[in-house]
Amino acid sequence: MTKKDLVLESTTLWDFPTQNYGNRPHGDNKYRGVTPAFVIWNLLERYTKAGDIVVDPMCGSGTTFDVAIELKRKPICFDLNIVRKEVIKADAKNLPIKSDGADFVFIDSPYSDNLKYSNHPNCLGKISCEDDRFFDQLEFVAVELKRVLKQGKVLAWLIGDQWKKKKFTPTGFYLYQRLARHFDSVDIVAVARHNQTSNTRVWHHRARQYNFYLRGFKHLLIMRNTKTE
Ligand SMILES: C[S@@+](CC[C@H](N)C(=O)[O-])C[C@H]1O[C@@H](n2cnc3c(N)ncnc32)[C@H](O)[C@@H]1O
Repeated sequence: MTKKDLVLESTTLWDFPTQNYGNRPHGDNKYRGVTPAFVIWNLLERYTKAGDIVVDPMCGSGTTFDVAIELKRKPICFDLNIVRKEVIKADAKNLPIKSDGADFVFIDSPYSDNLKYSNHPNCLGKISCEDDRFFDQLEFVAVELKRVLKQGKVLAWLIGDQWKKKKFTPTGFYLYQRLARHFDSVDIVAVARHNQTSNTRVWHHRARQYNFYLRGFKHLLIMRNTKTE
């Protein structure tokens, strides 16, 4: 897709055929779990303006960094797995940034232990979403993000559900319940998935034969920091 195809989404169903837009990379589409750049473009266009500070506490290959720079926002990006120099090494539960320092936060977290990101002991991609401790950890991250986000500003969290070994885990709903303890809801968007490894004829055949569904979308939970604690 080209940059000209970029439009502000008007519904809660977002479907982008490719990870990137335009001629320049935004993040690295070979990075495991890379975020579609259009998702971040849409969010920054809607909820921020030029000069705003945009924080991504799990920014991986830096899709948020690249889109934010292009839109003249000021990104501050963290991860435990450092693959580029603009990213600061930090645990999302304890960010080296002052309180009320961010105008917007985007996060695309692990949604279970399905992808290996690094050997770091605090990597949340080591904990299965079938274990309640996974959601406890995500809630610690949420509380930290509430601390860094200015009052009235928006947090957007992208997460997928899990169907594994005949067991469905509604990860997005469980995370939403935790986020709703600390933030007000703005909306929930379904972001279509395209490039997952199960998008093959064999897997589509298995899904029909064994009566399960392949994951077709991720949840984009859009929350506002209006509550006091
Ligand atoms: C889905 S990937 C993010 C992809 C990224 N948005 C991109 O476009 O490249 C999830 C990221 O969370 C990071 N991560 C996992 N646990 C973390 C933690 N406790 N603190 C900071 N980053 C963490 C992983 O290293 C990984 O890069």
